[in-house]
Amino acid sequence: MTARHTPREQVKIFDTTLRDGEQSPGNTMNIQEKLRVARQLEILGVDIIEAGFPIASQGDFEAVKLIAETIRTSEVAGLARANDTDIDRAWEAIQHAALPRIHTFISTSDIHLKHQLRKTRDEVIKLAVKAVKRAKRYTPNVEFSAMDATRSDWDYLCRVYAEVIDAGAVTINVPDTVGYAVPEEFGSLIQYIINHVPNIAQATISVHCHNDLGLAVANSIAAIAHGARQVECTLNGIGERAGNAALEEIVMILKTRRDVFGVDTRINTEKIYPSSRLITSITGVPVQPNKAIVGANAFAHESGIHQDGLLKNKMTYEIMTPESIGLATSSLVLGKHSGSHAFRKRVEELGFNLTEEELKKTFKRFKDLADKKKEVFDEDIQALIAEEVLRAPDIYKLINLTVVSGTAAIPTATVEMEVEGKFVRDAGFGDGPVDAAFKTIAKITKTKSKLLKYAVNSITGGTDAQGEVTVRLEEDGTIVVGQGAAMDIIMASALAYVNALNRLEHAKKKNIQGLY
Ligand code: KIV
Ligand code: ZN
Repeated sequence: MTARHTPREQVKIFDTTLRDGEQSPGNTMNIQEKLRVARQLEILGVDIIEAGFPIASQGDFEAVKLIAETIRTSEVAGLARANDTDIDRAWEAIQHAALPRIHTFISTSDIHLKHQLRKTRDEVIKLAVKAVKRAKRYTPNVEFSAMDATRSDWDYLCRVYAEVIDAGAVTINVPDTVGYAVPEEFGSLIQYIINHVPNIAQATISVHCHNDLGLAVANSIAAIAHGARQVECTLNGIGERAGNAALEEIVMILKTRRDVFGVDTRINTEKIYPSSRLITSITGVPVQPNKAIVGANAFAHESGIHQDGLLKNKMTYEIMTPESIGLATSSLVLGKHSGSHAFRKRVEELGFNLTEEELKKTFKRFKDLADKKKEVFDEDIQALIAEEVLRAPDIYKLINLTVVSGTAAIPTATVEMEVEGKFVRDAGFGDGPVDAAFKTIAKITKTKSKLLKYAVNSITGGTDAQGEVTVRLEEDGTIVVGQGAAMDIIMASALAYVNALNRLEHAKKKNIQGLY
């Protein structure tokens, strides 16, 4: 089944992991983490990176600005509601991008107009046109989204699109904001827009699907089949509520079923798996094991009949190869005799893009680990990199932890931390070693969060395996997840707790409100 690769029409991949994805609970990232994701998205080959919503907070603004100043080969989009203040702020953030794009939006469904915007249809058209014209003063690359398009009146929607295209929008987006559409209907809507918007040839049709009914990817694909040429999606499908359409699924559907859809993307599919892992490592939010393309079981064949078939010919039960998404299949295990070259090679094979300094730092940690542990597996290296370089601390950093506990001792923790650059040391008791460590950290950081979940996993097998701890904290309704890994599970717990506290601080600073 070797596909003939004649060039076909391109579908643009618009990634909104850093905007719609990051906005969802548990997925907040700080500025350094966002920059790392943006760099990875550029390597992955996404056409457009939606870097954030600059008006939402100072932190969002700074992150979008930094990404715009760094990224060179992907477009960088900033989101703005249809008003002057948002648009001016979005431009301020993205103006130094090599390829800037302003993405402005307003709702078009009657239900949103009546209850949220309290505006008439004509008023909304005026605002949309005004917003596009203002954005055009800054850049020719303006995208317009009709929020809640799928619950809007189709003829009114077509009027809106025709007017914004006249005003200069070069991309018109059709969001299924509440995940209400079903594929046939959504495909027909795209066809309807093509047939009823007279100037549609001057714009690219984009779609943006949410997954409330589990149809985000199916809807996006139906739209492409009917002529949409941009899809908005996120890595691992993260996003508001049930999430957004998953980038990896859309891309691999188009690649695997090129015979059906006849379109290409610019995505370097071998970077899909490392990109997915990066999001998991940074946010600590795991991917469900049976998730298509990037789930742990996506390429695991358990049944005897399947295994037998695979051994005879891979194509019997495999429609795409693990290598095509960059899933390393090497079983090479590193140990204490492995040198820096072997380590660097493995890190690269796992898809990480580290600087020389980061490599040096992680190699040292690897050597320490290899001294204690006979075999260092890929999962150990991934955890170590996540711990050492991917999760950027905001204000709290754990330096040292000593815990005394035993059947006849009151569990006591001595903790040394850096809090906003200042060294702090304290000690405290608890009901067990982890409790003592958490209470002392809470005392040092003066935080009052509630522990919702505490889970320990062993990263690989054996009693010398690293422990990976996940904690979920809540404060004033904000929920965050933190992760930590170390051979000592008390240390891993403390790292996870500090990671979650940093995320909590970051989430509190963001405080996104008033999105309509
Ligand atoms: O879901 C939605 O409608 C959005 C818009 C801002 C495009 O995220
Ligand atoms: Zn959305």
